[in-house]
Amino acid sequence: NQMQLYKVMKDYFKIGAAVNPMTIKSQESLIKKHFNSLTAENEMKFSHIQPSETNFTFDSADQVVTFAEQNKKVVRGHTLVWHNQTPDWVFHDKDGGLIDRDTLFNRMKNHIDTVINRYKDNIYAWDVVNEAVSDKDGEFIRPSKWLDIAGEKFIEKAFQFAHEADPKAKLFYNDYNESVPSKREKIVRLVKSLKEKDVPIHGIGLQAHWNLHSPSLEHIKRAIESYASLDVQLHITELDLSVFDHHDSRTDLKQPTEQMMQLQAERYYQIFQLFKEYKDYIDSVTFWGVADDYTWLDNFPVRGRKNWPFLFDTNHQPKQAFWRVMEKN
Ligand code: XIL
Repeated sequence: NQMQLYKVMKDYFKIGAAVNPMTIKSQESLIKKHFNSLTAENEMKFSHIQPSETNFTFDSADQVVTFAEQNKKVVRGHTLVWHNQTPDWVFHDKDGGLIDRDTLFNRMKNHIDTVINRYKDNIYAWDVVNEAVSDKDGEFIRPSKWLDIAGEKFIEKAFQFAHEADPKAKLFYNDYNESVPSKREKIVRLVKSLKEKDVPIHGIGLQAHWNLHSPSLEHIKRAIESYASLDVQLHITELDLSVFDHHDSRTDLKQPTEQMMQLQAERYYQIFQLFKEYKDYIDSVTFWGVADDYTWLDNFPVRGRKNWPFLFDTNHQPKQAFWRVMEKN
């Protein structure tokens, strides 16, 4: 038992992993053993669930939820409203023109109602709106068709529809670059304004797609503190530590270097120490995958490049990072 990650962390937070129908087979035993929370990596996104209007396709999302249920794992829902992986039909009429705001809200409501209702008994928390804040200086909300058609109001509408569909569900705003001060301040501004308008929002998701050097622990700490001060729960939703720095675009590395693995182990240790300090605010820590044989970072942002961001290696063996994270303090 003491060798199981989620059991070692049980007094601190849930430990989650993003999974998909392929990895629940190929990584089944690691998932069962070390994680007590699951997120569908892609299967609950708009384009997967409703590829064309009123044509709901739940098969692969169901596979993830059934696996979770059979193995007594809780599920975080990801995600209802996003600028990516959302089909174009959502924004257009039959002639190809942009629809009006009320039509968009009707489509949004129908989607949110249907998805939330299907998984009401299984999903306790939802990333309702994903990545709506802009990374650009001087720009608040990211340009998208949601914004073009409905203005910033699309964000509060999504939360309202989600709350009406399941008043018990914990509703999150989820984003990345959360530790970059300028982005963090915009996220704070957004969540603050939603709370002031009594929009039902209960948490902020910190994606935590980080690397071995950046962001600094100090910046991570500031993000946690400023979000926590808004009186919302925090979930770490997509943790991974790329072995490459932002400007490193090598594609020829076949194995991670020993130095990378040492640095990664130390970083993971420090990051978990920090999370533990804030255990009263952080309720869940989810990795965006399980073991190094499969990660979305294998082709992103540099095509054809392998990455090794997790606690388990390509053969599903624990890495140095795993043992460091498991240490008692
Ligand atoms: C990624 C998936 O991991 C990939 O398989 C897919 O091709 C693109 O999306 N932020 C998010 C996640 O909120 O949904 C993204 O997941 C990673 C970045």
